Amino acid sequence: MEIQWHEGLATGVDTIDKQHKEIFERIATLVSVDLETLESEQRDAALHKLLRFLGGYVIDHFKAEEEFMTRSHYPEYDQHKKEHMEFLKSYSSLVRMFEKEGATDLIVTATQNQAVDWLIKHIKGTDQKVTAFLKESGYFTKAKDKVH
Ligand SMILES: [Fe+2]
Ligand SMILES: [Fe+2]
Repeated sequence: MEIQWHEGLATGVDTIDKQHKEIFERIATLVSVDLETLESEQRDAALHKLLRFLGGYVIDHFKAEEEFMTRSHYPEYDQHKKEHMEFLKSYSSLVRMFEKEGATDLIVTATQNQAVDWLIKHIKGTDQKVTAFLKESGYFTKAKDKVH
């Protein structure tokens, strides 16, 4: 599983790239723990930490992107927002499963897939489209004061 931020994921927008890098770093640290080898209590704690991170920082990051999109009147806002909502829906069901069953193999794998695969796909496809639009539409030259 590739959990390293690389230039291919760059959007060219500093604020967004910084947040994406932070997301990758944190996820890499959290999933580098080999959950299989942990006692169930430690395993629960590690997964709980990853879920809390996803529910905190990632959700704030979505809000930041959505703000860029609203301010710039991004034409594909609804579609992008829908993807964020889908992430939140899967996230909530993972949390519910975790609360009920603890860190089972199934939940561990599903969380890692959700954290890594979904985010990479979303950044490469959906986020890069927004930032391309922001740059092409001259958003940053028009609203310099708003972007940092
Ligand atoms: Fe993003
Ligand atoms: Fe996004």
